[in-house]
Amino acid sequence: MPNDLSPIDKAKFVAAKKATDYVKAGMKVGLGSGSTAAWLVQCLGELVRDKGLRIQGVPTSMRTAQLAREVGIEVISLDEAKWLDLTIDGADEYDGNLNLIKGGGGALLQEKIVATASDQMIVIADISKQAETLGAFPLPVEVIPFGWKTTQTLIEETLIGLDVLGQTTSLRMNGDAPFVTDEGNHILDLHLNRIGNARQLSLVMNQIPGVVENGLFIDICDTVIIGYGDGKVEVRDMNQGAAEEAKFDFLDDGNLFIDNAD
Ligand code: 5RP
Repeated sequence: MPNDLSPIDKAKFVAAKKATDYVKAGMKVGLGSGSTAAWLVQCLGELVRDKGLRIQGVPTSMRTAQLAREVGIEVISLDEAKWLDLTIDGADEYDGNLNLIKGGGGALLQEKIVATASDQMIVIADISKQAETLGAFPLPVEVIPFGWKTTQTLIEETLIGLDVLGQTTSLRMNGDAPFVTDEGNHILDLHLNRIGNARQLSLVMNQIPGVVENGLFIDICDTVIIGYGDGKVEVRDMNQGAAEEAKFDFLDDGNLFIDNAD
């Protein structure tokens, strides 16, 4: 891994590296999607190759599955694993209760299924993902292609009665065509600005016909590991309530980091 990373990539990297402390031999691990999760997969691959760590990984997207195989992690399906010890994933926003918005990369459906089927979910993120109240990041909602415009109208009408600041929605595009998820669905991004009651919104969204799943992760995440550009990492845990801190020093001549846990 190169040492000339941007501060944001250093932050993502140190969060991912710290998360590997939680991965033990023999574990079945859910592997998230996105750029932060990609650092995690690379760090785990290094442990598999160099230290002989034995784990099985359940990827949350085709992209992650490909990367995991490339770095040498044994990949199994969720049905083969049945239940996971741990899932580690990125997030688009997290709040003080460790509730999340996910799906910026379009993988929210598999991510939510995998995280829910895990004893523990750890989110790795840089500090820019922290939010007092969720909603500045547009909420991704996965919808089936059939009748998606009708589903969009129903969502917008439903939002009028809910505790949100914005009510506009947009179909996520991939160039000139609608974005298609790994499950063959589309994504509607909900521009809400502020979500007053995330639990209620999540429940109501999932009752609308055509909605497959939404990107609110409520009471699913146990721990957030926050990385900073100077190598500092902070661990916030729902159960222990404590914030643990450590610092990774960037080596001049090496390709990795020294862990100077305080
Ligand atoms: C993908 C996700 C990602 O975890 C989220 O978008 C964060 O991505 P990144 O680590 O690239 O900032 O939910 O569906």
